[in-house]
Amino acid sequence: MKKILITGGAGYIGSHTAVALVNSGYEPVIIDNFSNSEKSTVAGLNKICGREISCYEVDCLDRSAVERVFLDNDFSGVIHFAAFKAVGESTRLPLKYYSNNIDSLLILLETMSKFGVKDIVFSSSCTVYGQPEILPVKESTPRQLAESPYGNTKKICEDILVDYIKSGADSRIVSLRYFNPVGAHPSGEIGELPLGVPNNLVPFITQTGAGLRKKLTVFGDKYNTPDGTCVRDYIHVMDLAEAHVKSLEYLFQQKNNFYDLFNVGTGNGNTVLEVIKTFEKVSGQPLNYEIGLRREGDIEKVWADTEKINNVLGWEAKYSLEDSLRDSWNWQLKLGKK
Ligand code: UD1
Repeated sequence: MKKILITGGAGYIGSHTAVALVNSGYEPVIIDNFSNSEKSTVAGLNKICGREISCYEVDCLDRSAVERVFLDNDFSGVIHFAAFKAVGESTRLPLKYYSNNIDSLLILLETMSKFGVKDIVFSSSCTVYGQPEILPVKESTPRQLAESPYGNTKKICEDILVDYIKSGADSRIVSLRYFNPVGAHPSGEIGELPLGVPNNLVPFITQTGAGLRKKLTVFGDKYNTPDGTCVRDYIHVMDLAEAHVKSLEYLFQQKNNFYDLFNVGTGNGNTVLEVIKTFEKVSGQPLNYEIGLRREGDIEKVWADTEKINNVLGWEAKYSLEDSLRDSWNWQLKLGKK
């Protein structure tokens, strides 16, 4: 069985990708420093997979520890999730973000080269597009100045990968630009585990629905969108996970020295109010919310053009927004109410 290293594999997207890899006959090996994840996620993962998934408590900045994991395992590929991702925190602590997110990629690429591992899928974000003029947004749309140090680390890491391939490196690389990941594994064994007050919409909604938060504030309703609230492309995390498996399989077929990138979204945009209404429908209860001020740095509307990933990887989103919110709600119910 081909072994695939997943950095940040105990995190939200990483853990779901481990399940998708197992479902496709691969053996995931996780490294995670548990700075923003819990050991209970690995237990949930083991339960879903019906066996123990190998997991090392290792920080990606610890080069010798990373090398030891490569010595222990013969990897066929790597999926690199490990990174800090809180936009607000990144504006307060930019150096923390630049050093962690960039150095971890560099150490990983150098270690892969040392051990002859060629294939890597990198987690990027639609944040690199800023507010696109034309929607849906294509991969060929020029990137814009990053709104935050977090967003800039994604741009810089993409640039590093492009330069690395330009230099003639023996690697094969795909960057995936995620839109808004939501949902949870349908079993309810794993899902998103935000630390403290969630920044993202869906965990805030489910925590409010569960009575853990008093009310949701909708950040602005005077945008130029169908109901005035912002539009995003919400993608089920299991669909996103599957895109990583397809990306790896695509890389395995390429010649050495290869780079490509894909949007990963559903191709549909939904407003914040639509997400709230859909949540109310699947949970069978009203959500306490109010309209508040705009959030600084928010993009008005963005959703993905998925033609490239549909055609080249043969991947498309299978889950609806309703499925996603039902799975998020199930997961919240499992985590507990107030
Ligand atoms: C945010 C980041 C993005 C990052 C992604 C990671 C910003 C500007 N963007 O995306 O760079 O890649 O998280 O997951 O922070 N909303 C509310 N009330 C809330 C929370 C959110 O109305 O309490 C609205 C927002 O205004 C937005 C939508 O819900 O329109 C989604 O917000 P969020 O989940 O934070 O994701 P993004 O802002 O799209």
